[in-house]
Formats: sequence, structure tokens, C-alpha cells
Amino acid sequence: MDNVELYHYSNKVQKRDAFRCLEEFGKKIKWRNFDKVLDIGCGDGGVTTGILKKFIPDNFKHLVGCDISHRMVEFANRHYGDERTSFMVMDIEGQIPRDLRGAFDHTFSFYTLHWIVDQEAAFTNIYELLGPDGDCLLVFLGNTPLFDVFRILSRRPKWRPYLKDVERFVSPYHDSQDPEKEIRRMMAKIGFKNIDVQCKEMCFVYKTMDDVKKAVSAVNPFRMSAELEEEFLEDYIHIVRDMRLIDQVNNNVDEAVNIRNNYTLLVAFGTK
Ligand SMILES: C[S@@+](CC[C@H](N)C(=O)[O-])C[C@H]1O[C@@H](n2cnc3c(N)ncnc32)[C@H](O)[C@@H]1O
Repeated sequence: MDNVELYHYSNKVQKRDAFRCLEEFGKKIKWRNFDKVLDIGCGDGGVTTGILKKFIPDNFKHLVGCDISHRMVEFANRHYGDERTSFMVMDIEGQIPRDLRGAFDHTFSFYTLHWIVDQEAAFTNIYELLGPDGDCLLVFLGNTPLFDVFRILSRRPKWRPYLKDVERFVSPYHDSQDPEKEIRRMMAKIGFKNIDVQCKEMCFVYKTMDDVKKAVSAVNPFRMSAELEEEFLEDYIHIVRDMRLIDQVNNNVDEAVNIRNNYTLLVAFGTK
């Protein structure tokens, strides 16, 4: 999951969705002067600076990206850090530094919170990080075939030792019948106001098997050698085929395919 160079070039879907959600939900955000903004799970910093920053008024005070991965933070600081933009290591599920409590006017998170097992701990931290009247916009995965394929692979003897803790990496909302209600209830319990949670049906079409492999590899949380990962990705593609997610495209180009990824995206907004 912390192959930062690969992630940097294989995150088209994450970028598209961050942009769409900011366009759709951005109007809910109450921008003020000299805002302090946090992006949780910033990864390589590409979405933080290439997409989120474009929605922030120019007179912001500070944009901070945080991530649990040292490699991601180091890459982001090297490529995108400047006098008002910086990146730091922080686990949103763990203990947050005391001096950051109430420090932000707006918190965002894109494609990260589905990795968090203790959802209430993370959402409570997000609430604590906000100052009075602060708001948050959180975008994360609900249901996706990616998690089904991981589960299928985890039952195979060859992959079982590597995918022992597969459930740790399946979205807590993957099997949920009503994720909107679950998240709304949790946010209300924590103290959030003006809560709006939406579960959106999405589709992304990959054009080549290689694109699928790169996208999966970029977020593959399971530790294995590069050689073994190549076999893992081959098996992944076989299952995608069995699940009939691949359409042959009749445009006279050999091997032309559409690989459909139908998934749900959860978008949660709330204020303090
Ligand atoms: C799929 S990437 C998303 C990166 C970026 N937000 C984007 O949209 O391109 C998910 C990121 O979440 C980070 N992450 C996972 N668990 C985390 C945690 N507990 N606290 C902070 N970051 C975490 C990972 O290191 C990874 O960089």
C-alpha cells in the first residue's frame, strides 16, 4: 500500500472521484479567511495539491496533509511542500497530538477511511481536530468487487498465508445493507451537526488488464515479493474474468476489453 511511485501513476479513479465529490459537495463548505485545512490519508500528495487545493480560496493559512505512511509523507513533502503546504505522519485511528486538537477549520479525506477498522475512533479524532463550526468532507469506499476478489483469493491455499488478515482490509461497509444510516448514526453520536451521508453508485472502466493490475498493485495491502505479486495479480485477473466483469470490445482491435468496476462511494459531510 505504500508503493508511492506506483500509486502516483495509477490513481486515476481516486483523482476523478475526489474532483467529482468536491464539485458536488464543495458548496456545503463554509470557507472563511485564513483557513487551516487538513487532508487525512493524503498519500503521495497529488490529490491534496492537484485537486483539493484548487477548491480552497487563495487566502488560506495552511494546508496540511497527513498519512500513516512515512514514505508517502516524505514523497509528498519533497514534491509538493511549500511555505503554506506541508505533510506529516499521523495515524487517524490512533492518538492524535494534543496541539492539533481544534486546529483545523476544514478536514477532508479521500479514499482512506475504508482502511480503518475502528471507524468510531477515526471519526472521533476528525471531530476533535476541528475547531468550532469546522466542517469535514470524507470520501471512502463502500462496496467494491476488489474486496470480493481479495476474499476469494484468501481462501486459496497458495494465498492464505499472505491474506490471513484479509478482513482488516475490507471496507467496514462492504457488506452493509444501509451504510448511510450506520455512518449518520455514528456521526450524530460523536456530536457532528448538519450531517449529510450519501452512498453513490459509481463505475470506472479500465481499458487494459495491465491498467487493472497496476491499480490493484498500487493499493495492494498484502506484503509479498514483487515476483509473487505478479502471480497474485494474474490470479486476481482470472477471478475478475470468472465474475464476468470483463466485456470484449468489438472495435477490430485484438485484445480490446472493457473491465468494469462497479462500486459504491460513501460521501460524509458534517460540522462541529
Ligand atoms: C488509496 S490512498 C489515498 C491517497 C489520497 N487521499 C488520494 O486520494 O490519492 C490511502 C492512503 O491512506 C493512508 N492510510 C491508511 N491508513 C491510515 C491511517 N490509519 N491514518 C492515516 N492514513 C492512513 C495510506 O497510507 C494511503 O496513503
